Amino acid sequence: MSETLRIEERDSHVLAVLDRPEKRNAIDQELVDALHRLCARLEVERRTLVLAGSGGTFAAGADIAQLRERRATDALAGINTRCFQRIRALPMPVIAVLDGYALGGGAELAYAADIRIGTPTLTIGNPETGLGIIAAAGATWRLKEIVGDALASEMLLTGRLLGADEALAAGLVSAVLEPEAALARAVELADRIAALDPAATQATKRSLLAPASAHPEIDLAEQAVLFESPEKHRRMTAFLERRSAKRTQETR
Ligand code: COA
Repeated sequence: MSETLRIEERDSHVLAVLDRPEKRNAIDQELVDALHRLCARLEVERRTLVLAGSGGTFAAGADIAQLRERRATDALAGINTRCFQRIRALPMPVIAVLDGYALGGGAELAYAADIRIGTPTLTIGNPETGLGIIAAAGATWRLKEIVGDALASEMLLTGRLLGADEALAAGLVSAVLEPEAALARAVELADRIAALDPAATQATKRSLLAPASAHPEIDLAEQAVLFESPEKHRRMTAFLERRSAKRTQETR
């Protein structure tokens, strides 16, 4: 248990709320540790994760008070980087609800999600170079994949932050909704995912995360496993039987 990561068990997902509003949910070692514990659980339980922040902020970055004291060995340990990589690699989807500031490490945590939903107050980006460091927890490779090289380079080299409209236009978030509606949309998506075949969802995520050089072999290998699964047969039979029942009804 952590006092700064509030976890709620829901039917279709686990909701984890960064809950350190007095520090704008700045990600400190305690939060990193709590996120690792949550990952350890979700790697086994394999549930969708919805990430959000409390107090009208997603996260205003890594904790600068702790960052200031970190040295080369800490950088090489990749304290936030390893944590966000682990979140990125969770077997089931991760959905981030981005309200208010998502800055620095907070933005990189958001980039680690599979799906991002913003609110009108979203302000997202990486001011790290202004603090004398680089955005080393995913921005230099993930942001580029999400918004393309031109905008990612501009954001990372100038520290320019995007508002909700620009983030939506760039595809950095897939929707902009008022905070309650944004969380409700995340829950709706988690419910939707829960109705699908979890093995197929996990295979899709593995393929999505694979490097370009792994395609299409990885897709074929994943599909080969699924083609042998009783669940695939059951779901396809159910579809075909529904169609045939509909046809019978229509011809009556
Ligand atoms: N690390 C540590 N503490 C942080 C923090 C961070 N990344 N972001 C905010 N805080 C703390 C502030 O120090 C302040 O603490 P205090 O009350 O003990 O002094 C508290 O959170 C509230 O911050 P404040 O700046 O007063 O809130 P605000 O609403 O006026 O501004 C921000 C919000 C996000 C614009 C501003 O806090 C900010 O610029 N934060 C740093 C963003 C950043 O550079 N992130 C990248 C880090 S890698």
